[in-house]
Amino acid sequence: MKLSSANINVMVKACRKASKILIRDFGEIENLQVSLKGPGNFVTASDIKVEKILIDELQKARPTYSILSEEIGEINNDESFKWIIDPIDGTANFLHGIPHFAISIGLEQDKEIVSGIIYDPIKDEMFVAEKGQGAYLNNKRMRVSARSKLKDCIICTGGPKQDSKHREITLEEYKKISSKIFIPVRKLGSASLDMAYVAAGRYDGYWQRDLSYWDIAAGIILVKESGGFVSDFNGENEYIKNKNILVTNSKVDKEMIEVLKS
Ligand code: IPD
Ligand code: CA
Ligand code: CA
Repeated sequence: MKLSSANINVMVKACRKASKILIRDFGEIENLQVSLKGPGNFVTASDIKVEKILIDELQKARPTYSILSEEIGEINNDESFKWIIDPIDGTANFLHGIPHFAISIGLEQDKEIVSGIIYDPIKDEMFVAEKGQGAYLNNKRMRVSARSKLKDCIICTGGPKQDSKHREITLEEYKKISSKIFIPVRKLGSASLDMAYVAAGRYDGYWQRDLSYWDIAAGIILVKESGGFVSDFNGENEYIKNKNILVTNSKVDKEMIEVLKS
C-alpha cells in the first residue's frame, strides 16, 4: 500500500531530486577520504546544494508555505504551514564516508507536525507518515516493535554537536545508562534515522538531549503514526521547547523515563 497525498508527493519528489546530488557527492567524498587534501569544506557545499534543491522544489509546489531549514534559517510566508528541513542529517557520517545519513523534511500545520519524510539515499529507504494515515517504509506499513522489557531491547542515542553548549555524551555515561537498563545502547549519528528506525520497529527506543527542531520534526510524526510514544525526559509534551526527546515503542517509556531521571 502506498501513502500518497498531495503534500507527501511534493516531499517525495523534492527528496528524489536532491538525493541525486547527495549520492554523487558522497561518491566524491569516498574518494577524498584517501586524498591528502581530505574532504575540507566539500561537505558544507553539499549541504547548501541539497538544501537549495529541496527549497526550490518545495517552493515551486507550495509558494505560500513558510520554511525553517538548518543552513539558511527562516523564510517567513504563510503562518499556518511550514516546512522544517534538515538537508543532510548525519553530516559527520557523510564527511567520513560512512553511508548512514538522510534528508529530513517535516510539515507543520498550525504549529503541529502533520507530515514527514526521512530519506536514506544510500539504502534507498524512504520513511513517510501523515497524520491519521499511518507510517510507511518504501510503501509498506510500519509499526513499532512489540518488546515490552528493556532487557530485550536495543535503545539508541546521539550526542549534540561538539560546538553545542553541552558536550558529547561520554563513554562513561553510556556505560552508566547501559548498566542500569542492561541493554545495548547504539549511537549511529543521524537523529532522523534513529527516530525512523524506532518507527520501523528496528530500535525499541531513542533518547537525546540538545536537539534542533529540524533533527526531529519528521521523526515525530513517523513515530506517532507507527504507534510509538514521543515525549521529553519527564514524559511531558515539551520536547520541542526543552530540546530533550525520548521516543519509544509505547511499551518501555515508563522504564526509560525512570532511567533518564536517575
Ligand atoms: C546531528 C545528527 C546526530 C545528532 C546531533 C545532530 P547533523 O545532525 O543528527 O545524530 O546526535 O545532535 O546535530 O549535524 O548531522 O545535521
Ligand atoms: Ca541534523
Ligand atoms: Ca544537517
